[in-house]
Amino acid sequence: MSDAAEAPAAETAFDQIGGAERVQAVVDAFYDLMDTDPAYARLRAIHAPDLTPMRASLAGFLTGWLGGPRDWFAARPGVCMMSLHRSMPIDAELARQWTDAMGRALDQVGVEADMAEALREVFGRMSGNMTTR
Ligand code: HEM
Repeated sequence: MSDAAEAPAAETAFDQIGGAERVQAVVDAFYDLMDTDPAYARLRAIHAPDLTPMRASLAGFLTGWLGGPRDWFAARPGVCMMSLHRSMPIDAELARQWTDAMGRALDQVGVEADMAEALREVFGRMSGNMTTR
């Protein structure tokens, strides 16, 4: 019998998805869709012209949030991602565009179906809670 010190750490969602490269691939697919598909024109319009910083920031946030390295959180002590959105004019349609694009990105990158479904559900709830009007 192995003692606790030898037991392997539980696999995180970050590990299951395939680590930092795959999280970045999901984020890049998400912003590529937002940038090119007219279905997300309103969502695109409230983002800065250059999405490069967001490609790094969202990937960093998701990496820590999914149980991977927490550099994004360490660099922003006390920052709450939900609070960051409170000053944004987010209505139900914008929340829907966000979750729709992210749902497609998860599929495009080939995140395993059960994991993709679980993430879609959580993102749907978070986005609903970010609706400010
Ligand atoms: C409800 C729909 C959402 C809308 C309309 C929205 C919109 C935005 C906008 C306009 C920005 C600033 C972008 C810029 O400066 O160019 C932003 C930043 C960000 N959003 Fe969202 N967002 C939504 C949902 C989410 C969700 C569900 C998450 C996390 C799972 C998320 C994570 C982030 C992160 C990490 C940042 C970057 C913060 C920073 O680096 O300062 N957003 N969002």
